[in-house]
Amino acid sequence: MADETLGPSRLESGPAAAGGPLRYEVLVLNQISPNGLKRLPADRYTVGKDVPHPVAVLVRSADMHAMDIPASVRAIGRAGAGTNNIPVDAMSARGVPVFNAPGANANAVKELVLAGMLLAARNLAPALRFVAALDPTLPDMDKAVEEGKKAFAGYELAGQTLGIVGLGKVGCLVADAAIKLGMDVLGFDPHITVDAAWSLPAQVRRAASAAEVLKHADFVTLHVPLVAATRDLVNADNVAQMKPGAVLLNFSREGVVNEAAVLAALSAGPLACYVCDFPSAALNRHGKVIALPHLGASTREAEENCAVMVADQLRNYLEHGVVVNAVNFPHVEMARESAYRVAIANANVPNKLGQISTAMANAGLNIHNMVNKSRGEMAYTLVDVDSAVEPAVLDNIRAIAGVLSVRYLPQPETP
Ligand SMILES: NC(=O)c1ccc[n+]([C@@H]2O[C@H](COP(=O)([O-])OP(=O)(O)OC[C@H]3O[C@@H](n4cnc5c(N)ncnc54)[C@H](O)[C@@H]3O)[C@@H](O)[C@H]2O)c1
Repeated sequence: MADETLGPSRLESGPAAAGGPLRYEVLVLNQISPNGLKRLPADRYTVGKDVPHPVAVLVRSADMHAMDIPASVRAIGRAGAGTNNIPVDAMSARGVPVFNAPGANANAVKELVLAGMLLAARNLAPALRFVAALDPTLPDMDKAVEEGKKAFAGYELAGQTLGIVGLGKVGCLVADAAIKLGMDVLGFDPHITVDAAWSLPAQVRRAASAAEVLKHADFVTLHVPLVAATRDLVNADNVAQMKPGAVLLNFSREGVVNEAAVLAALSAGPLACYVCDFPSAALNRHGKVIALPHLGASTREAEENCAVMVADQLRNYLEHGVVVNAVNFPHVEMARESAYRVAIANANVPNKLGQISTAMANAGLNIHNMVNKSRGEMAYTLVDVDSAVEPAVLDNIRAIAGVLSVRYLPQPETP
């Protein structure tokens, strides 16, 4: 549907229409790291919980599904990885990109995986419980410590085999760290990206399936998204094939593991320990389960990385139309070679580009540079033209069937 209601003067509210500098209002739904918010400079951005005409929304975990998202909103930035709290399909229908921050929390998760392996290998959870239960008033506490410690003797990570299912941002960092700790690493990812493959240490051995990883590793760690194909990725069939005494780590998502199968494998073997970020009634207080309260991304650095990354992406989109890390738009970057840029999102159907360039040619506009890309049902075009674009031309483009949004992005004035 063409966007009839939002001309650029209303989009970049107030002063722009009067010839003043462009201002952008950004609605913030959660607490966002101040270092992230600083990326939206105050001379051009009004950022807050009460902005009347937001052109963008910054969100962490707030559920936006029931929210009446104002028609003025042209972009949503999620300071994190998952976007299931955002109505992505509805935003796509409005030609609104939803940005996220892939990988910004990967180091935080990697470090917790390393902690998880050490917790399991060195029996640290029961050891801490043992010490906490010691009576500090006992005169011979030292003796009790020496006698008790035998129960917690562990083993070292060096020389153990770590299996990694999912070699994306987190999985690759875990592989690298594990190699540096002297572990043997076996990995599986049917859709590994070229970037990820390049970043993997050469020592990582490649498995042909998740089942192979589970069968041959002493530790198995999961770093896949939860989608239909990965639900119950670890199940009764393959968990039974794991090595006796193996440790399973899940810092991915709860549903990636079939909890009943894991509990059965903990009780009857072969599994010695399940370390996860997803406590549940069934897992809680189980002697062989170490459950953390979803701490994977909970570091100040990860929160800041996410906020900075997504604020930069939003700004680049609002001011230049550039799309990096949107979950529903193609990746589109084009260096500015003209002060007059138009950004168009449309349904990915034939002849839209022809109609758009005809509308511009009919108005006597010379196209200086142009990029057009598609992803699934969404197509996105950036056009730099040599002269200013009249509102009537933008309206003509908006009127083309299948055009979802049109933005005019004259070069922002430098402060
Ligand atoms: N515990 C936490 O707080 C926390 C924090 C961040 C991420 N996560 C979870 O970790 C997951 C991984 O994060 P990431 O940043 O590495 O994501 P990513 O998108 O960079 O990597 C995911 C990888 O999984 C691979 N994959 C998909 N299906 C697979 C399958 N069937 N078998 C093997 N590999 C498969 C993909 O090809 C991709 O390389 C996220 O999707 C998220 O669910 C959890």
